[in-house]
Amino acid sequence: MEVRIFNSADEIATACADIFSELLVTKPECVLGLATGASPVKTYTELIKRCKNGEISFSKVKTFNLDEYCDLPRDDKNSYYTFMHENLFNSVDIKEENVNILDGNAADAEKEAKEFDEKIENAGGIDIQLLGIGTNGHIGFNEPADSFSDGTFKVKLTDSTIKSNSIYFDDDSMPRYALTMGINSIMKAKKIVLIATGESKADAIKATIDGEVTPQVPASVLKNHPDAILLIDKAAAKLL
Ligand code: F6R
Repeated sequence: MEVRIFNSADEIATACADIFSELLVTKPECVLGLATGASPVKTYTELIKRCKNGEISFSKVKTFNLDEYCDLPRDDKNSYYTFMHENLFNSVDIKEENVNILDGNAADAEKEAKEFDEKIENAGGIDIQLLGIGTNGHIGFNEPADSFSDGTFKVKLTDSTIKSNSIYFDDDSMPRYALTMGINSIMKAKKIVLIATGESKADAIKATIDGEVTPQVPASVLKNHPDAILLIDKAAAKLL
């Protein structure tokens, strides 16, 4: 696992966009694993700028998002479907049919999850998976647990995640369940890039980098990946 420490979130966005741009140029029909939340927003803004400049194109790209809330309409302002369209897809030349976001309202969540994993396999697997990290060390919505999860599945969110993400919801309407790629689905990606900024991530980053590999700190599994890069700022690196 490679760790790169930066002065600011802007520097991280440039470095992360460089990694994605290199792939987009060398393999225009690549498969991207994407994340939502605050961490990737500046990277998406930088990728939009480069796409508008003609440096990169998403016209042949397929994307798979890590996760989606359950029981939230797809067009809700807090759905990850809406987030991805507002923060990236509406501003680049991607084809809507190449965008894959889990349906958190599927009547049969197990079937939805299985079909999602199959679609990733059929697309040839994910070339780069982008990740953020929860303050509890979660990746995707793989919460601290007794064992590492396998493929995509429906998960009950922990109190810590509900507390962190509730700030985006008007009242107590934050969903309690989500569909998420499993740890094994994430680990199958050829390359993984994790972004962490701010002091609130310092404990999780310390446990990920300096601690043992344990499902109690889901991100620690990245130490077992042959090509995982952590892009973190000085505040997130403060306890290292
Ligand atoms: C988002 C996701 C989550 C976030 C994590 C960090 O798709 O899977 O694991 O990456 O909760 O969120 P932010 O970036 O908002 O701090």
